[in-house]
Amino acid sequence: MSRAVTLIPGDGIGPEVTDATVTVLTAAGADLEYDTQLAGLEALKQLRNPLPKATLDSAERTRLILKGPLTTPSGSGFRSINVELRKTYDLYANVRPVRTIVPGGRYEDVDLVLIRENTEGLYVGVEHYIGMHGDPRAAAESVMIVTRFGAERILRYAFEYARSRGRKKVTLAHKANILKYTQGLFLDVAREVAKEYPDIVSEDRIIDATAMQLVLDPGRFDVLVMENMFGDILSDLMAGLVGGLGFAPAGNIGEQAAMFEAVHGSAPDIAGKGVANPTALILSACLLLDHVAQPKPAERIRRALERVVREGVSRTADMGGKANTRDFTDAIVRALE
Ligand code: NAI
Ligand code: MG
Repeated sequence: MSRAVTLIPGDGIGPEVTDATVTVLTAAGADLEYDTQLAGLEALKQLRNPLPKATLDSAERTRLILKGPLTTPSGSGFRSINVELRKTYDLYANVRPVRTIVPGGRYEDVDLVLIRENTEGLYVGVEHYIGMHGDPRAAAESVMIVTRFGAERILRYAFEYARSRGRKKVTLAHKANILKYTQGLFLDVAREVAKEYPDIVSEDRIIDATAMQLVLDPGRFDVLVMENMFGDILSDLMAGLVGGLGFAPAGNIGEQAAMFEAVHGSAPDIAGKGVANPTALILSACLLLDHVAQPKPAERIRRALERVVREGVSRTADMGGKANTRDFTDAIVRALE
């Protein structure tokens, strides 16, 4: 029986890269049945609700989401629907692999996985203004939450991930030198959990030094684990090591549900032009296929995609090519073996 998946095309380039992804999934024989639903700005426009009940009902039923990017207004406006979905289903592990596909970049053979805590930290969104001297917004305050429970389960996830995939090393990136309580707790728990995995090399590093080392010598890392906001920032940096946001897929994994999406956003600057690179969402769909135990179509897609990108005949603009989304997608379909 086909696996049901809630498909959210999303905003901006979302519908374009989602179309491309479904085309490739279908051609590769992925056994999925799509329930297409709205969320984000598009849902707000059509249904006056950025996260409609029908979408939640669908997700409740499928517990599996493939999602295009959703536009989130900065500052005022509705809160991030991405964060909302992660919270609703307690998708605590954000898994972001980056791997070199396009040769000739700054580094060859980058192969890293960032595992980001997805439910705590500063992104819990506990914020408020403080009024002073007649100015209601004289100051603003935000709370960083770290729990032993949350830290332990993400660290355990990272070590289990490393072990089950034959990876050798887990690096915890933190800021416990300054944030002695919140980051200190994370670091303490990391050292405890690491003891249970003597087969995996573990190390901890200050987040800023980690950022520099990643740029200078990514080969010294393997799996990296960190709290929410640090992971958000460093995963974009790591995408840059392999050619940019067009290549960075992600899974948001919980005990009861999972959601797969690209790291990039809705790219309003190129939306509607049909030129977006669909690779990140296609690779996210491959992570989804792995997750639902359909590794064969996932492998076929990865091989075809790599071949097309390496051959270089059909590449999108962000890869320095002239192909539009459709040409590139068709080339991948033709390359499927
Ligand atoms: P962005 O990732 O949308 O774009 C950054 C730059 O990368 C732009 O120049 C864009 O054209 C380029 N780019 C991104 N994806 C690309 C692709 N697939 N192919 C070719 N070029 C690509 O980030 P930005 O502009 O900061 O955010 C735009 C909107 O997206 C915001 O509303 C933001 O909140 C939202 N966003 C949503 C995410 C999600 O739904 N998971 C994640 C990140 C941002
Ligand atoms: Mg981000």
